[in-house]
Amino acid sequence: MAPCIDWGMEMENMMKIQKYAVESGYWPLYRYDPRKEHPFLLDSKKIRRDLEDFTSLQNRFSKLTRERKDQAKDLQDRLKKDIKNDFEQKYRLGLEDHELLEWLKKHFGENVMKGDKCLVVYGSETGHAEELATILKSELQRRGQRVRLVALDDIDIQEIADEKMVYGIISTAGQGDYPKNAKEFFKQVNNNEYPKDLLKDTKFAVFGLGDNSYVYYNKAAKDLDKVFESLGGQRIKEIGLGNDKDEDK
Ligand SMILES: Cc1cc2nc3c(=O)[nH]c(=O)nc-3n(C[C@H](O)[C@H](O)[C@H](O)COP(=O)(O)O)c2cc1C
Repeated sequence: MAPCIDWGMEMENMMKIQKYAVESGYWPLYRYDPRKEHPFLLDSKKIRRDLEDFTSLQNRFSKLTRERKDQAKDLQDRLKKDIKNDFEQKYRLGLEDHELLEWLKKHFGENVMKGDKCLVVYGSETGHAEELATILKSELQRRGQRVRLVALDDIDIQEIADEKMVYGIISTAGQGDYPKNAKEFFKQVNNNEYPKDLLKDTKFAVFGLGDNSYVYYNKAAKDLDKVFESLGGQRIKEIGLGNDKDEDK
């Protein structure tokens, strides 16, 4: 942060401006040392001051507030929200493991490590399957489950084998193609030999998004269902096939 006459940040006020930038969370202070076991350390551990204390010291912000009050308020509210989110993320990152566990308990209750764990995997070309997977995640969480949501390309089949329950939601793209964030997953399972009972302890259910005017209707979902079955997974429900052409979809 440098002095700027145009912005009204005079040299003589720089100490105060910098202090306010840190205290309002606008400029978080942290240290990062990858050699350490716990490399990230957040020095400014609390937002102590209103953002307006900091912004009002600068012409560029106060001018906007004078000339376009509503727009200034909207922008400041959004900035405040971003700062708060960023601060919370950094705060968690700066915690030691045992502190993080305490933090989680405080925010999510003592039961934070209880509740069944499950996995939702998705493959989506234009976002509909991802959106549905996100809704499923929220619904499962509402029912007290601990849910991990991940695109198929971002997960290893071995990780799926470590789960007791996996839900797959996947659309079909192109002419029976896999969606862009599931292609690597299918390459992985097709190019490797896995034990036939790899998923023997994993229950699964698959739902597809497709359109029955295509020749390869819901092919990706059918393939995913087959992959889980061929590796010994326990199907808890017949595959569901969503069709764009259904009136009540
Ligand atoms: C270019 C294109 C190609 C598609 N190809 C197929 C297909 O081969 N088989 C099928 O069942 N659905 C097909 N669909 C329908 C999509 O799977 C469906 O619209 C789905 O809801 C898209 O979900 P997504 O946004 O998660 O990718 C296709 C859709 C588009 C736009």
